[in-house]
Amino acid sequence: MTRSLTFAIPKGRILDEALPLLAKAGIEPEAEFHDKKSRALRFATNRPDVSIIRVRAFDVATFVAHGAAQIGIVGSDVVEEFNYSELYAPVDLDIGHCRLSVAEPVDAADEDQAAMSHVRVATKYPHLTRRYYEARGLQAECVKLNGAMELAPSLGLSRRIVDLVSSGATLKANGLVETDIIMQISARLIVNRAAYKMRSAELTPLIDAFRAAVGVKDAA
Ligand code: PRP
Repeated sequence: MTRSLTFAIPKGRILDEALPLLAKAGIEPEAEFHDKKSRALRFATNRPDVSIIRVRAFDVATFVAHGAAQIGIVGSDVVEEFNYSELYAPVDLDIGHCRLSVAEPVDAADEDQAAMSHVRVATKYPHLTRRYYEARGLQAECVKLNGAMELAPSLGLSRRIVDLVSSGATLKANGLVETDIIMQISARLIVNRAAYKMRSAELTPLIDAFRAAVGVKDAA
């Protein structure tokens, strides 16, 4: 008997958009998944061969890269930040659209960057942040935070932040302005490369089902 496939999906914003797509691809989690009081982390689905785990976005990539989950959904920001060679990202799911941006306090945004060689940045994305500044000849000292980056400038932790921006409301509420867009982001279907080779009879139809589900969404 083969083990069931473990499908990792992220808590948070992508989840609401991911569930209809999962349903179109033929996967519906058991009722307990929707019970906000439940402390369960692993759930059965309508398919006996597929179970779902619900974890933080960065952990989706870690579970799938290590083969603990074979397939998952995560933002392209996370895929790029980790740059795991074990991850294959075959489908752009066209959900979870946002951008990774640099932001600064309104009154500091027009300071001359040309005079600097070093910047201090609060971010959840140290790899992408260093890469962005390196390409501009600047060394970035990253202060790693896991959330609420927008607090860093007003409390003197760093003048700049690099974070996700969707509506821009969080920046505005915290007196910050977006000064550059590093990358546009959308959610991706990710697959563990080794599992893709070893279990392609199970994974290929599932990947195809997501491709078709995205197409159906486009046609709607
Ligand atoms: C994200 C991001 C920003 C905010 C941007 O955080 O880190 O804080 O959303 O969205 P906006 O431009 O629409 O205001 P999220 O609320 O997902 O929580 P997190 O800090 O746990 O990632």
